Amino acid sequence: MTAVTRTTAIRHDFPILTRRFGGNPLVYLDNAATTQKPRAVLDALTSYYTEVNSNVGRGYYQLSHAATDAYEGARAEVQRAINAEHPDEVVFTSGTTAAINLLADTFGRARLAAGDQLVITGMEHNSNLLPWHRLCAATAAELVVVPAGADGRVAPEAFAAALGPRTKLAAVTHVSNVLGTVNPVREMAGQAHRRGIPVIVDGAQAVPHWPVDVRELAADFYCFSGHKIYGPMGVGVLYGRRELLARLEPYQVGGGTVKGVTLAEPVRYVPVPARLEAGTPHIAGAIGLAAAFRYVDGLGWPNIRRHDETLVRQAVAALESVPRVRVLGDPAAAPSGIVSFVVDGIHPYDVGGHLDRHGVAVRSGVHCANTFVDTFGVVGTVRLSFAIYNTEAEVDLVRRVLRTLTPGFWTTEHPTERFL
Ligand SMILES: Cc1ncc(COP(=O)(O)O)c(C=O)c1O
Repeated sequence: MTAVTRTTAIRHDFPILTRRFGGNPLVYLDNAATTQKPRAVLDALTSYYTEVNSNVGRGYYQLSHAATDAYEGARAEVQRAINAEHPDEVVFTSGTTAAINLLADTFGRARLAAGDQLVITGMEHNSNLLPWHRLCAATAAELVVVPAGADGRVAPEAFAAALGPRTKLAAVTHVSNVLGTVNPVREMAGQAHRRGIPVIVDGAQAVPHWPVDVRELAADFYCFSGHKIYGPMGVGVLYGRRELLARLEPYQVGGGTVKGVTLAEPVRYVPVPARLEAGTPHIAGAIGLAAAFRYVDGLGWPNIRRHDETLVRQAVAALESVPRVRVLGDPAAAPSGIVSFVVDGIHPYDVGGHLDRHGVAVRSGVHCANTFVDTFGVVGTVRLSFAIYNTEAEVDLVRRVLRTLTPGFWTTEHPTERFL
């Protein structure tokens, strides 16, 4: 099968791609924000709600056993997909943000004291910055930020140099959601581990584009969201090495977390992962996420990697052919499906608005990474982010539409305004 026929077939799996806006077919290039859902995932959700719906781990009847089996089966599938050693190293959360907040409030809080240091990179999404920022403020620890260079990369030597005797924890993104830059996580983890420092990895943008192997990466914790890998919204994963997870105190307490409760005695909590999944989990979401991993696996990672490489290289060339357009960073170095650019003299919202009038959905602004975007001295960027259903024709449409761009409302009225 040729790459083009494969993409055409894939597009049939995604019902939303037949939508039109203002007479134009939808060209969805905001996949780093969230991906569209294939029928396989939609069917898994429907089938759960029509055939299995009941709560897990609580009911002593057949339907509840079936729901529990399906939920734990999903956990085991996620475990295999990321090559974790045990299913109980997979904690279901509501997403990457929830997973990182959980870690900050449990693992981070237990490790950090006044004067300690926590190291992050300068390219973090707010979800891997603000929980640490707040934790450092609460514990009087110091947040050490290793800046990215002009090429948008964090040099491993700079990261290593930031680790010292006071460093108690490092939290780094695997892939930048702004530039698509891939951090050498394995190397960084090695540097941290040599100093006894555990490493938390924000994998939100890596999991949809690379076959992530948490053991190969030597991540102590790895967090990601289901909705960015064709799965449902509201479900995500906190992977943690078993011995580290086992030591975590419950983040939230409530149903499903206890062995026994009396008002007179201390509460006895169940082991992980249930101890960290208080309340009714997103059961359908976990099942849908497992279906998403099966779907992606069926496409084949080599095909996905080739597709990312083709579209990113084509996008860089197309953008560079448009006057006043500047591509940021070096997205073709290790393509993660993300290409960010600016148009000199035109506000990114005007660029996004112009593309939208032609049916092209992109993200423009600061991408929840204000501090990183600020390092480029721009008000914001425009980001194309690709998925398995995007085509070379769509990239070419972006090029043609950009050639007709003129300054609009934001450029003339609010050139420095930004809020997204
Ligand atoms: C790198 C990165 N980390 C964290 C997040 C937060 O993910 P979620 O909103 O699904 O929790 C995102 C979302 O865009 C992201 O790109």
